[in-house]
Amino acid sequence: MRFPLWPRRPRDYAVETLEPRHAGAIAAIHQESFARPWSDVEFAALLGQEPVFGYLVREAGRHASPLAGFVLARLAAGEAEILTIAVARVYQRQGLGWKLIDAVLRRLHAERAEALFLEVDETNAPALALYRRLGFREVGRRPGYYRSKDGDSTGALVMRRDLR
Ligand SMILES: CC(C)(COP(=O)(O)OP(=O)(O)OC[C@H]1O[C@@H](n2cnc3c(N)ncnc32)[C@H](O)[C@@H]1OP(=O)(O)O)[C@@H](O)C(=O)NCCC(=O)NCCS
Repeated sequence: MRFPLWPRRPRDYAVETLEPRHAGAIAAIHQESFARPWSDVEFAALLGQEPVFGYLVREAGRHASPLAGFVLARLAAGEAEILTIAVARVYQRQGLGWKLIDAVLRRLHAERAEALFLEVDETNAPALALYRRLGFREVGRRPGYYRSKDGDSTGALVMRRDLR
């Protein structure tokens, strides 16, 4: 006898503020996502800087569940920038990238910031789709900005989201 395949219950995710103690876990997610990963020491140093803040997302209601993704941003003189964002591969396409940027936008609105900027590889289709859906617009391009391990280079798009 064959058992029916029940659809998986949608999971609940909780957003928490990033702290220096999360540096190791977010470095592991970053390493999975980028050709040039940042170390846990670099993340700990960034998280110790006053204008830098960020959020992590993990499954809610599970004790010490693994991190699913994180975002790191910096706010200075009314303008903010996303330093990096990554969602672990197994958790992608479940709305977590959106949830993380939404948390950043809420904080920036509360702080009355004027604009949020980011840089993205022009060939990174998932990230571009997410940012465009969130209202970011291209305001510049840096040719040859990113270089892969095999020496190829791609341009960066500079994107801006108005907050007022
Ligand atoms: C970019 C990234 C953070 C998106 O995270 P995510 O949790 O998978 O994104 P979400 O599930 O919140 O997606 C929200 C929307 O973005 C768009 N999107 C996200 N991933 C997409 C993909 N692979 N293809 C097309 N559109 C995509 C869709 O419009 C999606 O909405 P939908 O699922 O209702 O269609 C994730 O792909 C990632 O970590 N990539 C590797 C690291 C990286 O590239 N970071 C960005 C550097 S600038």
